[in-house]
Amino acid sequence: MENFSIEKLEKPFDIEIDSIASDKSISHRCAMFSLFSNETSYIKNFLTAEDTLNSLSIVEQLGAKVKRDAKQVEITPTKELKEPENVLDCGNAGTGMRLFCGLLASVDGAFVLTGDKYLRNRPMKRVAQPLRSIGAKIDGRDNGNKAPLFIRGVKELKPFIYNSPVDSAQVKSAMILAALRATGVSKYKENELTRDHTERMLKGMGAKIETDKEGYINIHPLKGALKSLNITVPADPSSAFFFAVAAAITPNSRVVLKNVSLNPTRIGAYEILKKMGVEVNFIEKENIYEPIGDIEVKYKELNAVVVDKHISWLIDELPALAIVMSLAKGTSVVKNAKELRVKESDRIKSVVTNLEKCGVNFTEFEDGYEITGGSLKRATIDSHGDHRIAMSFSIAGLICGMDIQDVDCILTSFPNFKAILESLRG
Ligand code: S3P
Repeated sequence: MENFSIEKLEKPFDIEIDSIASDKSISHRCAMFSLFSNETSYIKNFLTAEDTLNSLSIVEQLGAKVKRDAKQVEITPTKELKEPENVLDCGNAGTGMRLFCGLLASVDGAFVLTGDKYLRNRPMKRVAQPLRSIGAKIDGRDNGNKAPLFIRGVKELKPFIYNSPVDSAQVKSAMILAALRATGVSKYKENELTRDHTERMLKGMGAKIETDKEGYINIHPLKGALKSLNITVPADPSSAFFFAVAAAITPNSRVVLKNVSLNPTRIGAYEILKKMGVEVNFIEKENIYEPIGDIEVKYKELNAVVVDKHISWLIDELPALAIVMSLAKGTSVVKNAKELRVKESDRIKSVVTNLEKCGVNFTEFEDGYEITGGSLKRATIDSHGDHRIAMSFSIAGLICGMDIQDVDCILTSFPNFKAILESLRG
């Protein structure tokens, strides 16, 4: 178990960062969706972090040929997916495990999906139950709710009409993947739009997926193979956000985050920074399945904010936003964010217990917290094995110094995080 220390930043910074980790959600999907084609997919900037490399390895164990060099990943699928000889390890990735459930539910064979101790304790019923209701055979620990999960692929899945009780892109994506191999048109509805990479990418590959007037996503079963992918994965707006926060809390600083996905369902946290008074500019440059461009963030005085809407658009950024709230004038509130309890850690607990160590005033709610801004003091932070907790409190270290325990988890999403953090010192 690795630990590291961050020392206080002595002077402001003004930099461009073009080495932010590639988008994790899109990279997982590139690996998986390449299996729906019968031609080679070419993926530049694939995220080479633990979570997404696990997905790539699973795709390989299912029979695809994977070639990888520093620049690009090439995935050539087999005609029929093959039953793997061993269990499929998703590591720490909820996205990996949940999407593979939908993908494998109708593939001939037996599959065991497992993961690390954190993933094995996350709820899987949210995907297993709707998949079972359309004929999938999925079982697991804790009455089928926890991994390891066992899937026995069935020949045919029934088409469905599903109103999802949780706003989760992972559940939506698992159901869309299952629907591609169902026997008729399926309909999926969420209370509010969650990240929509799955819909955008599959449509781009030729799948018939459209949203109707009542808000149902209609998914038509595949008639044949889809077009292969030829894509450059943009930088991950959730990873980039740590450095947006660095600029937002360091007086007189500015950062330009290069070639980031500007998908509206992914940049909600940047909009919150704007509301808090920070100067944030989006410079759109191109569109590959989704808008991509640069984000400029400039320090301004920070005011408190209430975050209680469109939670899924900023769910992964809430730990880093908690650091900004701790330094803003007034009391900030996060509500309707119960989903935080079932992330890589219980992020309500891991945020507030670590803020407490840093001397911050807060109140914990079942579905969020209230944070009164003031100052931060150096403390020893427990990451709870959660990459976003480790990185959020590392950024707080720029203000007061910080000692972070159990930082290995950062490798799941952002291997060069520490190097970029140190480059802020010039
Ligand atoms: C993701 C969806 C979100 C997000 C996760 C990645 C995805 O999870 O928190 O980091 O790639 O679909 P939920 O679907 O559980 O909200």
